Amino acid sequence: MTAYKSGDPTTLNRLYGRAKGKPLRAGQQELIDSLLPRIAVPDGGEVGAQRLFGDDRPLHFEIGFGGGEHMAARADMLPDHGFIGAEPFVNGVAQALVHVAGDHGQHPPLGNVRIRHGDALEVLRRVPDSALSFVYLLHPDPWPKARHAKRRMMNDGPVDLIAAKLKPGGEFRFGTDHPVYLAHALMVMRRHRHQFEWLAESAEDFLTRPAGWPETRYEAKARAQGHEVWYFRYRRK
Ligand SMILES: C[S@@+](CC[C@H](N)C(=O)[O-])C[C@H]1O[C@@H](n2cnc3c(N)ncnc32)[C@H](O)[C@@H]1O
Repeated sequence: MTAYKSGDPTTLNRLYGRAKGKPLRAGQQELIDSLLPRIAVPDGGEVGAQRLFGDDRPLHFEIGFGGGEHMAARADMLPDHGFIGAEPFVNGVAQALVHVAGDHGQHPPLGNVRIRHGDALEVLRRVPDSALSFVYLLHPDPWPKARHAKRRMMNDGPVDLIAAKLKPGGEFRFGTDHPVYLAHALMVMRRHRHQFEWLAESAEDFLTRPAGWPETRYEAKARAQGHEVWYFRYRRK
């Protein structure tokens, strides 16, 4: 297991799973070598719309995009918006690059995605305050043991960071199928109710996948195993 260590309380050993899985297929390695450098989030300095996309388009940020299917579907839905995604799992990055590259047939290439192979919080800290329209945290690693609760992405440090980077009226979307994580997240978000308004009017709102919220691979697996999935939309006050 790879651990991210830093003195910053928002980057505490949060990587739960693997950073590398099966060997990459030749086509995926080719995308890592040729496409990733062209669309990678730069290593240092500000991560804003002008620098990344050359204009002031609305920005979306996905934390831990897994195989990138949600990010790619959203980017396809909103071609005038810019999407920034970060993921330390190299096989996930490779799968996301396949979506970005398109297949020259049904799926056109996506010109509005920028990717970081690494820690999302390091990148998020470099986004200017109030710059983001959407932040997505979908099925974060559970860290199910109570003694590891501090490592969960849904915690005061990361949530304060997300609040700082979202513009007023911007949206934070969070999804999980993990009952322990659900209870923990509700508790954390309740502590942050001065920053976020929960956009749920009835149970239906968090039991049903909202429109414009493409399914992630992890979510599909959870449903196939018979798990319930919960969806949360919070508006930045
Ligand atoms: C359970 S998976 C869910 C992936 C995807 N969001 C989905 O729903 O299919 C959690 C993901 O978070 C990623 N992750 C863990 N720590 C991270 C970090 N510090 N920054 C970005 N991603 C991280 C993991 O590599 C993993 O791909």
